[in-house]
Amino acid sequence: MTGQHSSWSDVDHYLIDTLVGEDDALAAARLSSRDTTAPGIEVTANQGRLLKMLAELIGARRVIEFGTLAGYSAIWLARAVGDGGVVTSLELEEQNAGIARANAERAGVADRVDVVVGPARVSAQALVDAGAEPYDFAFIDADKQSTPEYLRLVLELTHPGSVIVIDNVVRGGAVADQDSADEQVQGIRTALADVAANPALEATALQTVGLKGWDGFAIIRRVS
Ligand code: SAH
Ligand code: DHB
Ligand code: MG
Repeated sequence: MTGQHSSWSDVDHYLIDTLVGEDDALAAARLSSRDTTAPGIEVTANQGRLLKMLAELIGARRVIEFGTLAGYSAIWLARAVGDGGVVTSLELEEQNAGIARANAERAGVADRVDVVVGPARVSAQALVDAGAEPYDFAFIDADKQSTPEYLRLVLELTHPGSVIVIDNVVRGGAVADQDSADEQVQGIRTALADVAANPALEATALQTVGLKGWDGFAIIRRVS
């Protein structure tokens, strides 16, 4: 990346080096993303720390994630839930799931990370049908066009007080284009409109710049 983006990256490197750091297991998981079907799209270390802190702030013991990739964010979240906690992470690609399980093993959290292979809407519906114990925290980070569906499923899998984070809600600014022909952008726009229309949810969204360019998170709390 050039120009402004290189200074965004310089600042992310500075912040990560100064405040966050990465132990060997996280660094290895991040690097292993090169062997997945979507190299390099995992959250950055400072974003991973944010996810962990948000989950810890609400005392989350059960986390559900849509989109595992190499398990990088799952490891951060597994550290938040602690010993005896659960991270259920839904991933379409067997190849990615295998890499993620190996990374969870190396990080010492394999006992609390359950990678479920298949289309996330199918896996999540199966959890609903099985009467899964509610989750305290959800991270939606899979195929963006399906985000409205994932939000609907998450509302069946969480409880009042649960926190839901949606990644990639800004997409280089594309989210503000109501006429966008990009189905991923429209998926995010529909999901955010659904959040706004739901009186059970309080939400905000923040733009971010950094190693992954210009993007953002939506942070949602179920109040009822
Ligand atoms: N949360 C990860 C990054 C996930 S990248 C991290 O930050 O470390 C998005 C992932 O979603 C990819 O691994 C991709 O294979 C997966 N994915 C795409 N479509 C999916 C679907 N329909 N169901 C489940 N996972 C899907
Ligand atoms: C993409 C997906 C992500 O989840 C992400 O964080 C960055 C990029 C993508 O599909 O391009
Ligand atoms: Mg993402």
